[in-house]
Amino acid sequence: MHTYCITGGCGFIGSNFVRYLLNKYGSNITIINVDCLTYAGNPLNLKDIWDEPRYFFRKIDICDKSALKKLFKEFDINYIVNFAAESHVDRSIQNPEAFVSTNITGTYTLLETARQSWETEQGFLPERKFIQISTDEVYGSLGKTGCFTENSPLAPRSPYSASKASADLLVKAYSDTYNLPVNITRCSNNYGPYQFPEKLIPLVINNCLNGSELPVYGDGKNIRDWLYVEDHCGAIDLVINKGLPGEVYNIGGQCEKQNIEIIKAVIRIISGLLPDSKNIGEVLIKYVNDRKGHDRRYAIDSSKIRKELGWYPQTGFEEGILETVKWYLDNRDWLLDVTSGQYNEYYKQMYKGK
Ligand code: NAD
Ligand code: DAU
Repeated sequence: MHTYCITGGCGFIGSNFVRYLLNKYGSNITIINVDCLTYAGNPLNLKDIWDEPRYFFRKIDICDKSALKKLFKEFDINYIVNFAAESHVDRSIQNPEAFVSTNITGTYTLLETARQSWETEQGFLPERKFIQISTDEVYGSLGKTGCFTENSPLAPRSPYSASKASADLLVKAYSDTYNLPVNITRCSNNYGPYQFPEKLIPLVINNCLNGSELPVYGDGKNIRDWLYVEDHCGAIDLVINKGLPGEVYNIGGQCEKQNIEIIKAVIRIISGLLPDSKNIGEVLIKYVNDRKGHDRRYAIDSSKIRKELGWYPQTGFEEGILETVKWYLDNRDWLLDVTSGQYNEYYKQMYKGK
């Protein structure tokens, strides 16, 4: 019976991962969701799971040393999966401070708490691991060709990616110095249910539904490598169970798309699903000023995790994007709660997690 500490479990990928674990392992595991509920943390993302007997929620900031220490005394934690982060590049350009705090100091605080809690005179307790959820953005920006491998140099260019690269280096330092069992995963752009509508795909869906403009940064030809969130969850599960301590694993969908292609695909799908909405169309597209320091292209070489752990993505882009759009159309209350800030005002108080 393993105990997972999932940080950032009320965010996009974290909530999908909690659901993935429960679907796969059911009552054979215990999950503690550690989240301080920033604007991106939404308890509603796990509403269907609140009453699961082996699921616990703790409202804790990962920078809070004493709260984490207490948590490790309360639970015998096997795995820390660190999703908690400030995750939006545009926000990091506006206000980098929270990124330095959560992404760097928070990761350090978790690492140090794990080290102190798991270390014995005979070494670390068995069946313990720290998994850092990192990003392909730590490798910087690519030209027209080539892919990031695990050996590509770290060359982050935004405050967000610099803070994530710093966290990766701390995780590596805890592995090299103390032998703390760790893995780092570096994934490309995720899409799917429960993503906060500040990110490209849910933003475009939400704006289409409201008949608002669809802002395209620069020439719209920047490229991202898209992965359906469920496939990312499967990869993390494999890394936890089979990943060799100290190793880094890239995770990517081999699905490069220009931003403008993504936007047009979403418009096409929504128009097909809502044929009566005459105001949804490419007329909403508006080219706006480019993001400062906008990385041109990301592409991930994930042959290591494919060869060594047998992972491969199961959801093609056409299927994944259709499912994603349908989910947002079917969950307009969720979208409304998030965009109105309602979830923030009421649901934090309503949440009576164990
Ligand atoms: P998100 O912004 O949707 O969620 C982040 C969660 O972390 C929220 O629930 C928030 O409340 C919580 N959090 C923030 N600061 C905290 C703190 N100090 N203490 C405790 N909780 C805190 O993020 P996401 O898109 O789900 O990304 C999750 C992780 O995956 C991040 O580490 C991100 O860097 C990484 N990642 C994301 C993508 C992507 O495409 N979304 C791709 C690769 C890697
Ligand atoms: O690559 C992994 C990263 O993907 C993660 O580490 C980040 O946490 C995650 O937010 C994401 O970063 P991006 O900056 O790639 O995602 P975003 O959805 O913000 O933007 C995707 C692309 O679309 C990017 O080139 C900028 C562009 N864009 C974005 C928005 C919000 C637009 O053209 N218009 C927009 O309104």
